[in-house]
Amino acid sequence: MTARDPTIILDPAHAWRAADILRAGGLVVFPTETVYGLGANAFDPRACSRIFAAKGRPTGNPLIVHLAGLDQLPLVAQRIEPAARLLLERFSPGPFTIIVPRSQRIPDVVTAGLCSVAVRIPSSPVARAILTHCGFPVAAPSANRSGRPSPTDFDSALEHMDGRVEAIVRGPDCEIGLESTVVRVESGRVRVLREGAVTREMLREAIADLARLDAAAGNSAESGSATVELCSGPEYGALDAAEGPAEAPGTRYRHYRPEAALIAVERADLAVALDRYGGCATALLALRPLQSGEVQHRGCSLLFGFDSLDHYARELYRCLRACDQGGCETIIAELPPAAGMGRALRDRLLRAAGRY
Ligand code: TXA
Ligand code: MG
Repeated sequence: MTARDPTIILDPAHAWRAADILRAGGLVVFPTETVYGLGANAFDPRACSRIFAAKGRPTGNPLIVHLAGLDQLPLVAQRIEPAARLLLERFSPGPFTIIVPRSQRIPDVVTAGLCSVAVRIPSSPVARAILTHCGFPVAAPSANRSGRPSPTDFDSALEHMDGRVEAIVRGPDCEIGLESTVVRVESGRVRVLREGAVTREMLREAIADLARLDAAAGNSAESGSATVELCSGPEYGALDAAEGPAEAPGTRYRHYRPEAALIAVERADLAVALDRYGGCATALLALRPLQSGEVQHRGCSLLFGFDSLDHYARELYRCLRACDQGGCETIIAELPPAAGMGRALRDRLLRAAGRY
């Protein structure tokens, strides 16, 4: 693509055009239920290397490969553990990514040279329509410039990628708003490499069902899924230092940072943080009910209240963008309790705050 080729905006009804552009080696930004993705044909190494240039992404950080359905799995993966397959079946299509041994057809640039590949089957109708028209796997990281919050609506996607890609699909706002859960199943252990909307609670329930199924089938503990256990979960910083690139490469890089300084605090510490940092260049993100009188006294210019964890997740990146556009210097954000979707929110907020 050259400076003379403007990015075209596609209607979601024209999924086939998006697929044609991808087939020809182009880059297409499209919505998924989690965040907007920046797609290229996963079998085309030249197209995939353009993803890294468009994002300004370090090449050591591998990409997720998106499929239209489970039947495409043999195109990208080999020797999948039964438990990994069962988890993929259970949580697909949806905000769930699993790391599996890669097939030789997937180029090195996609996996950063690892022997594994990350696979996801999105549920968003627009993404599914595009993937179905493609018939080949589509490598797609989040469609943000590297290090910034992921785009969760068309305007943000346009802001990040206009002029850098052949096409952007004008889709709906993303329903979930945080990136997919990433897991690896290895030697009978399920490890969460990135928290997301498929929560640890959901994984634990699925694992218990697998164990029951195995027991009902009369399988021994060695047979595969019966030994699956959910590992206590990654302290990303520690994991980066201790386990290096093979574990969760993306966690080594700066992520999700707005321009403003973000201060992430527990609910009990909100008042103290407001006393210290409140002011006209400060925004507050918190779960309702908010003590708005208190907030206004401290002069916060922007106030975002959320009715639930899902609402907080859906709006988080949009709010961070609004804060930057509104010229905020400081963002005070409440850390929700570490349960359910709260874990993914805490992870993104702590990273946005530069705490790991
Ligand atoms: O929701 C999502 O997952 C979005 C949408 C577009 O599908 N995609 C997304 O991709 O968030 P990205 O590239 O921004 O994040 C992918 C994460 C990175 O942290 C990367 O390091 C990790 O998945 N990853 C990819 N392949 C891996 C592998 N083989 N082993 C371990 N981690 C891997
Ligand atoms: Mg990303």
